[in-house]
Amino acid sequence: MSKTILITGATAGIGRFTALHLAKLGHYVIASGRKLDELAKLEAEARVANVRIDTVALDVTSTTSIAAAVAAVDALTEGKGPDVLVNNAGFGILGPTSEISDSEMRRQYETNVFGLMNVTRAFLPKMMARRSGRVINVSSVGGRMTLPYFGVYNSTKYAVESLSDALRYELRPFDIDVALIEPGIIRTNFEATAVAGMAQFATSPYGKAIGKYEEMSKLADKFASDPIVIAKAITRAVTARRASARYVAPRSQNAIFLASTFLPRVMWDWAMRKVGHLSVKNIDFTARSAPVPPPWEVPVARSKHTPVASA
Ligand SMILES: NC(=O)c1ccc[n+]([C@@H]2O[C@H](COP(=O)([O-])OP(=O)(O)OC[C@H]3O[C@@H](n4cnc5c(N)ncnc54)[C@H](OP(=O)(O)O)[C@@H]3O)[C@@H](O)[C@H]2O)c1
Repeated sequence: MSKTILITGATAGIGRFTALHLAKLGHYVIASGRKLDELAKLEAEARVANVRIDTVALDVTSTTSIAAAVAAVDALTEGKGPDVLVNNAGFGILGPTSEISDSEMRRQYETNVFGLMNVTRAFLPKMMARRSGRVINVSSVGGRMTLPYFGVYNSTKYAVESLSDALRYELRPFDIDVALIEPGIIRTNFEATAVAGMAQFATSPYGKAIGKYEEMSKLADKFASDPIVIAKAITRAVTARRASARYVAPRSQNAIFLASTFLPRVMWDWAMRKVGHLSVKNIDFTARSAPVPPPWEVPVARSKHTPVASA
């Protein structure tokens, strides 16, 4: 049966590919994103393929943009709203966890966690009122295991996993299924965005280790899967009579969950240090750490109203 599906972050990668895939299968897809020119290109590509995709501007970090998107989707669906919401928009910046600045960490949470929750909250009321619907959240295999330098990004996906579990329990009485998609390494812009910020850590104690890791991470791209693997997993989550809680894609990634669960902790940690080139010889103990001070260390200009503690 054809569904009305709203996808976030559909201007590139997994979101764009999935929008086209679902439209070709006969679903009514509303693709959303920040880049209007990319949305127009997607609509045109759908027309060439003889399918219809409508598009809506949506920056998941902006409450104004979310409100406008709700109105636009209402207009496209005669006030009904989507049957399925696919929360796909997201990104990660890699780096040593202690070195990532407060603002960079918040930026990742604003998109991957708060953005996802705000979009969900905006589209849920109609699903709850009609007691049917589905929310599909794109997490990561890194939502259940942590890799070196992925600490901040992985933690956003751990948050998505936990929030999705709670939503799944709580929305079941409304007949709304909540599913998680857990992609492995997928060939998209994700990797380029992720490593783009790594140069800023070159002068940190981790500079040498990170340099080696970056080379390896580019190599890992050779073993990446195409976005079709995720488009198919999302399709299974859309069309199943009852969606599963989790879809690992490709399924071979289950091996890494088994290893992280059953290997003794010392062996797992050793393997992770190897992956991150985190041996003593790769650390510069003379380098200055923390390039950006956390907010509590930034001197704040004191206003004349600020009470001064007496000595
Ligand atoms: N590729 C992988 O290896 C991999 C693995 C595990 C999980 N994932 C997850 O898969 C999802 C899709 O990533 P991808 O691999 O397709 O990466 P991608 O090619 O970089 O695409 C990311 C998409 O998210 C959009 N986006 C980012 N911030 C946004 C915002 N504030 N509002 C709306 N859209 C926003 C981007 O739009 P702009 O073009 O405007 O930036 C783009 O359309 C992400 O949640 C990612 O964490 C990817």
